Amino acid sequence: MEGTIQSWRPFLLAFLLGSQTVRASIDLDLSSTDSIKSAAKEAAKGMLSYYTGYRPGDVPGNIPDPYYWWEAGAMFGAMVEYWYYTGDSQWNDWTTQALLHQTGEDNDYMPYNQTRSMGNDDQIFWAFTVMSAAETKYPNPPQGQPQWLELAENVFNSQAARWDTSTCGGGLHWQAYESLGGWHLKNSISNGGLFNVASRLALYTGNQTYADWANKIWDWCEGIGLITDKYDIYDNTDSKNNCTTFDRTQHAYLPAVFMHGAANMYSLSSNANDTTNTTKWKKRVNGITNALSAFFYPQNKNIMSQPCEVAKCNVNEQSFKAYLARFMGATVPLAPFTQDRIMTKINASAQAAAKQCNGPDNKCGLRWTDGDKYDDTTGIGEQMSALEVIQATLVHVDSKPVSHNTGGTSTGNKPGIGDSDERNTDVRTRDVTKGDKAGAGILVVLFVLAPVGALVFLSEMV
Ligand SMILES: *[C@@H]1O[C@H](CO)[C@@H](O)[C@H](O)[C@H]1NC(C)=O
Ligand SMILES: *[C@@H]1O[C@H](CO)[C@@H](O)[C@H](O)[C@H]1NC(C)=O
Ligand SMILES: *[C@@H]1O[C@H](CO)[C@@H](O)[C@H](O)[C@H]1NC(C)=O
Ligand SMILES: *[C@@H]1O[C@H](CO)[C@@H](O)[C@H](O)[C@H]1NC(C)=O
Ligand SMILES: *[C@@H]1O[C@H](CO)[C@@H](O)[C@H](O)[C@H]1NC(C)=O
Ligand SMILES: *[C@@H]1O[C@H](CO)[C@@H](O)[C@H](O)[C@H]1NC(C)=O
Repeated sequence: MEGTIQSWRPFLLAFLLGSQTVRASIDLDLSSTDSIKSAAKEAAKGMLSYYTGYRPGDVPGNIPDPYYWWEAGAMFGAMVEYWYYTGDSQWNDWTTQALLHQTGEDNDYMPYNQTRSMGNDDQIFWAFTVMSAAETKYPNPPQGQPQWLELAENVFNSQAARWDTSTCGGGLHWQAYESLGGWHLKNSISNGGLFNVASRLALYTGNQTYADWANKIWDWCEGIGLITDKYDIYDNTDSKNNCTTFDRTQHAYLPAVFMHGAANMYSLSSNANDTTNTTKWKKRVNGITNALSAFFYPQNKNIMSQPCEVAKCNVNEQSFKAYLARFMGATVPLAPFTQDRIMTKINASAQAAAKQCNGPDNKCGLRWTDGDKYDDTTGIGEQMSALEVIQATLVHVDSKPVSHNTGGTSTGNKPGIGDSDERNTDVRTRDVTKGDKAGAGILVVLFVLAPVGALVFLSEMV
């Protein structure tokens, strides 16, 4: 039924409005920068049609159910990149407002409102965004507000303090708090996310602490078996078994965050004329770039697709191609030897994605392999994926991210500040107010400081 309604509604609308363009896929001519920019704008507009946080009385940086808080961080990351690639600043006010509203009380993207479901992976998606803002010279927040680099450093420091050597010889848990379900898992997006941010901070600041962490995290992930010798990346391993058992599911965002982090380490080593490390990181970037074929359809062809697309992708998975496209694009200027392999895939995928933006009001479906036969799904993830792959065609191999030494203007923490010990700053009695995004506004969560610094999690239905 729904399909029927959706298929006649646009024609009715077209008739009523006298418009002939309500339903026609997004035009994309890759030989024209203007065409790419206008296609990206169309996809961005569709994505932001789900966002109301800028309205008075609404909460900036929140997106409606069923989307999770982390995806808002990702969405504004797509908008930072949108500004960077297209120069169109019409949505910067919303973006900056959202990024500053959600910093949380300690300026590390751990707002109390999100405490009851805070994964390391949720928090890190906001750090990806502010890191991009620093690297692209996205306009800095006003003085007196936390700055992009500082926010990324704070996230890094809060997570580095959670590195847990009591099992598995190291690794980050999935969840930020031991009290949350699934904490026992050590997953690749949390560890890969921190690796990604550490490597970018290393390149941006030149501070060796970050390079040391990036090396340590990679070595742990590889040593424990989350990264295989074929550069496949498994979803998670279980600390209950000292990380000897795995969930071997592969998701499109996993190679993306590791590849881009490795490209940053390659660039850092290469700038320093450090041939040993340059060779090491080049091998890793190459290995992952080649292993990406698992996310192209059919195998080894050029249109991005995920295993879940043969059935149905869940709400998170609907957005994963966005991060694969984003980090593939960002890898090219850092590791130019990937250019041909990556851009062949980005170009073909962008063409296919634009064709799939053939729903009502040019809304984008998810299955780019379906040509212009709209797959009848749309949402923030689908729009973001189309947006990121389309704008990634504007990547230029000579446009490297900036750093402190090459014109970057974002300021970080002075040594010592932001070097906060998680256990001291975050374990305090708190009352998470109800009525926030998760919709379960009837859950009251209390955190109580236990003698050994562990969190005791109490919840009750009111
Ligand atoms: C937390 O929730 C309250 C109540 O809905 C809201 O006013 C506030 O803006 C939220 N803060 C964040 C950072 O989302
Ligand atoms: C747990 O795993 C780590 C890393 O592989 C290893 O070093 C350690 O010996 C293991 N501990 C036990 C008790 O097996
Ligand atoms: C280079 O390799 C050494 C030894 O593994 C390591 O200590 C150093 O941090 C590395 N530098 C980079 C940029 O990876
Ligand atoms: C690396 O080598 C290049 C070319 O020889 C040189 O210009 C540059 O100063 C060197 N950089 C460092 C950090 O040694
Ligand atoms: C991608 O498309 C652009 C624009 O048409 C073109 O200049 C570039 O050579 C293409 N890259 C590859 C690897 O196909
Ligand atoms: C390097 O980064 C770490 C972690 O943020 C910080 O504690 C340290 O002070 C920094 N070092 C310098 C010299 O800025």
